[in-house]
Amino acid sequence: MKMISRRDFLKASAVVGAAAAMTACGGSSSSTAASSVASSTAASAAATNGSATVGVCIYQFADNFMTLYRADLEGYLKDMGYAVTIMDGKNDQNTQTEQINTFLQQGVDVLIINPVQTTSAQTIVDTVSPSGTPIVFINREPDKSVLDSYADKCCYVGADARQSGTYQGELILETETQGDINGDGVITYIMCKGDPENIDAQYRTEYSIKALEDAGKKVNCLYEYLDNWDQTTAQQDVANALSQYGDQIEVVFCNNDAMALGALQSIQQAGRTVGKDIYLVGVDALAEAVQDVLDGNMTGTVLNDDVGQATAAAEAAKLYVEGSAVEQYYWVDYVKVTKDNASEYVK
Ligand code: GAL
Repeated sequence: MKMISRRDFLKASAVVGAAAAMTACGGSSSSTAASSVASSTAASAAATNGSATVGVCIYQFADNFMTLYRADLEGYLKDMGYAVTIMDGKNDQNTQTEQINTFLQQGVDVLIINPVQTTSAQTIVDTVSPSGTPIVFINREPDKSVLDSYADKCCYVGADARQSGTYQGELILETETQGDINGDGVITYIMCKGDPENIDAQYRTEYSIKALEDAGKKVNCLYEYLDNWDQTTAQQDVANALSQYGDQIEVVFCNNDAMALGALQSIQQAGRTVGKDIYLVGVDALAEAVQDVLDGNMTGTVLNDDVGQATAAAEAAKLYVEGSAVEQYYWVDYVKVTKDNASEYVK
């Protein structure tokens, strides 16, 4: 079977997604249309001859989801005729800050930044703003005040993590026992959260449980693990949880698929069976997780649309290069992935 990239696979939807992201997002309550974008002569010239340079900073290459995102982004920017350099922040803010400074010395036309620490976004803006270089923040949403502080030169492209959290909860509510396998009237769960500073981790944790409570369910959290989006760490923590709490655990919530894949290894090693005596959900719709959903090894996952987000980020960069108006926020929808529709997301 011919292997195709996720980008090629979802290209058709990306074209639609890009158009939607660039228009529908304007309707978002939290989006503020940029009133104007100062168009520099240099930027316009770059757009005309297609020779703009884009510096991309990724928080960490060793992140499954951001690896997909980065490949998509590189492809779209190159398709636009831009020279692209992508740097690995190695999960270290100092390293990333140095990379940003190097990009500024090189005089890149636009920066696309996936911050290591969201709390450093203001410092990043303060470092970049004297040069007037526009910034497209991606994946890790900074405070609105940060975007406001560099108005017309700075935007955020992302997905509303509250939606993904709600979908995780709904995936559990859609199971035969609605998450209450032992029928004691309480959904007892553990949570693999992600990283503490990340709004995706915070909202997914909050909104998955809110969905259960809004449906009138009682919940009992046995333990919240951080696991930093990492498969091996989650595997170890879930193994420990399963040996400590045993059958009490009815649901394992994982805020990304890497952690869910780790959790699944431990669930299987403990002799438990997803869909029968435990439920497991993730987020991202990584190829392996989608296959597990199809095979019944995961209850469900949520598509984190890397193609739609990369397309929107590349489009935003292009608007900056061309000196066109850029909105403050571009939102891309999540999609719930269950056994019923998972085949649409298999590559
Ligand atoms: C999330 C994604 C995680 C991880 C994280 C990095 O949106 O679901 O898998 O990539 O971003 O910030």
